[in-house]
Amino acid sequence: MPHQVANVAIMRLPIRTERLVLRPLRAEDIAAHHRMFSDPDVVRYLYEDVLDLEAATAHLQSRLSVEVPAEGQWLNLAVECDGDLIGEVGARVVSQEHRQCEIGYGFAPEAGGQGFATEAASAIVTLCFDEFGAHRVVGRIDARHHKSARVLERLGMRREAHLRENEFIKGEWIDEMVYAITEGEPRPAIQG
Ligand SMILES: CC(C)(COP(=O)(O)OP(=O)(O)OC[C@H]1O[C@@H](n2cnc3c(N)ncnc32)[C@H](O)[C@@H]1OP(=O)(O)O)[C@@H](O)C(=O)NCCC(=O)NCCS
Repeated sequence: MPHQVANVAIMRLPIRTERLVLRPLRAEDIAAHHRMFSDPDVVRYLYEDVLDLEAATAHLQSRLSVEVPAEGQWLNLAVECDGDLIGEVGARVVSQEHRQCEIGYGFAPEAGGQGFATEAASAIVTLCFDEFGAHRVVGRIDARHHKSARVLERLGMRREAHLRENEFIKGEWIDEMVYAITEGEPRPAIQG
C-alpha cells in the first residue's frame, strides 16, 4: 500500500535555499504581512480581498501553525531574504489517499522579478515530495495570471487544464488553470 501524504513527514525548518530562508510565520510579522495583503496588486488574483490591519492580524494568526497539515489544511511559511520578510509560501495536503499536495505563494511587489518566488516555490515542491510523501503536486491559478503561470512553468510543471468559469471570486466568474508535476518527473535546477 502506498504511504500516505504527511504521515511520513518530519519537517526540518527552516528551509534554506541559495538566497532565501523559509521559516515559520510569527505574530511579529504583522507589519510585513499587512503591507502585502493590503496591496491591491498582491491580492488581485488571490481569494483574499485587501485586508485592513485587524483582518490581516486574524489572517496571519490562522497561518502560524507549523504542524504537518491535515488533509485540506495548509502549512504556510515566511520567506526571508537578508533578514527581511519578502513573501510567503505554502503547501496544502489536498488528498491523503491520492498523495496530492497544492502549492501557493505571494511576494511583496518590490521582491518581484528576481526569481525569488520560483526559488521558494521550488523548495516547497521539494517539501511536498520529500517530507509530505506527495505523488503529485499541483498549482491552481487564475487563467489571467501570466506571471504565476511562468513561475509554475519554471518549476517544470505541466499545464493540464484550463477550466472555464470554474470559480466565482470577488463578484466574477474566473477561468482557472491547473498545473501539475508528479514524483519522478524531471525538475529543472533552480539557480538563485
Ligand atoms: C505571482 C508572483 C509570485 C510572480 O512573481 P515574479 O517576480 O514574476 O516571479 P519570480 O520571483 O520567480 O521572478 C521571475 C522573474 O524574475 C526574473 N529573474 C531575475 N533574476 C532571476 C533569477 N536569479 N532566477 C530566476 N528568475 C530571475 C525572471 O526572468 C522572471 O521574469 P519574467 O517573468 O519577466 O520572465 C508575484 O507576482 C506575486 O507574488 N503576486 C501576488 C500574489 C500572487 O498572485 N500569488 C500567486 C497566486 S496564484
